[in-house]
Amino acid sequence: MTSTTRFDLGLIGLGVMGENLALNFSRQGHAVLGYDLDDAKRTQFAQRTQGTASGVAASLAAVVAGLAQPRCVLLMVPAGAPVDALCEALWPMLAPGDVVIDGGNSHFADTARRLERARALGIHWVGCGISGGEEGALKGPALMPGGDAQAWPRVRPLLQSIAARAADGEPCCAWMGQGGAGHLVKMVHNGIEYADMQLIGEVYALMQSVLGWDVPTQAAQFREWNRGALESYLIAITADILDRVDEFTGQPLVNFILDTAEQKGTGKWTSQVALDMGVAAPTITEAVYARLMSARKAERVQAAAVLAGPKAAPGVSTALTAQDLHDALLMAKVCAYAQGFAILGAANQQHGWALAFDQVASVWRAGCIIRARLLEEIRASYAANPALPNLLMAPYFQTLLTRCEAGLRRVVQAAVLNGVPVPALMSALAYYDAYRSERLPANLLQAQRDYFGAHTYQRTDRPGVFHTQWV
Ligand code: 6PG
Repeated sequence: MTSTTRFDLGLIGLGVMGENLALNFSRQGHAVLGYDLDDAKRTQFAQRTQGTASGVAASLAAVVAGLAQPRCVLLMVPAGAPVDALCEALWPMLAPGDVVIDGGNSHFADTARRLERARALGIHWVGCGISGGEEGALKGPALMPGGDAQAWPRVRPLLQSIAARAADGEPCCAWMGQGGAGHLVKMVHNGIEYADMQLIGEVYALMQSVLGWDVPTQAAQFREWNRGALESYLIAITADILDRVDEFTGQPLVNFILDTAEQKGTGKWTSQVALDMGVAAPTITEAVYARLMSARKAERVQAAAVLAGPKAAPGVSTALTAQDLHDALLMAKVCAYAQGFAILGAANQQHGWALAFDQVASVWRAGCIIRARLLEEIRASYAANPALPNLLMAPYFQTLLTRCEAGLRRVVQAAVLNGVPVPALMSALAYYDAYRSERLPANLLQAQRDYFGAHTYQRTDRPGVFHTQWV
């Protein structure tokens, strides 16, 4: 870099995601000035961008000094305190009109807060959800920007140039709305990601425990499903994972991976936000709980020795078919998506946003972790009727659910009888059944509340608020 060079984009945080995004921007013809606190990462980036218009800066101040004005800076640092610390360092160096994009998995409330602070300084803040993992960052992620709308015309060509493209050629990058809208959409994406991963895991457990399939048979089944309605990135990688042979034992590698799941918190946030907004998102929440249960490995080992229950044994429920598993997985996935979109609907109401669900589904069609064939149908359903009260009510999905529900019931039944925990599948079925129940037992619950707390109730046959002296 020479002192007169002016770069298009400063990228701070050259971890795997940051570096791959920088290389993607660079390949699209943008001159990126990268920076990381870590010397080794800076050196590596310098090597990887040798001979291109991109380069590396030796300090934060050098990044700011090297950028064309008004500046555009993309932060790719861990969510939370590191973003705030970076902001404090950056504010005095930036000028009104500059744009800062936070591309991490920040909580949307933090994004809203930072946006206000930036606005007071005349700086345009963009909270941009980015999905696709390492490979997506390099080859084309899905991007969910939101925040200060004045920044959109400026960042649009930049972000859309690196985004994945859906089958119809649309870039998987659209403006989600004001405030923390972009990060909220990414958070919900991750909530659905948690649910989808858990559902696939439960079906894998049933293939093993109830159907007695060996791992290659499981892999072949997932691969076949990936050619139909279940086609998705997560199904495809599941087939790849099950096919992988361990270099030490010659057995399927998956059998040697410790069964304790970790998490960084975005699934938990989705559940917390759903509860705060008064939205039922049970399948997403069960997926979070399932990770928590898995993490208690030592306790589970002890409990397995003493607590009674059926030992899942292949062949106990011979009635279960591969088609049942397919239908159960497809239907439960739809329920998880329905819950995610219900959260987005509540967010629109609560924050006065105008998240367009067809656009959200459109952005998720490629590049991101939850990309799936199903998303084209979700996009089309919301485009046809943006006011759908719930995804389950879309005509396409009514037909799908009608076709799949018997399979989901058989799968849940087989799991229960065989003692295989399938909390996400069960919760999806319960969600479906509750949603289609004209009458729920909440009448009794209201009576109980009135009995012990004089909380009153309404009647079905006359208006008003009632209280009964129960004793
Ligand atoms: C993505 C992923 C990405 C990250 C997950 C992992 O969309 O690219 O969601 O953001 O891999 O957040 O989350 P956990 O560590 O919580 O599983």
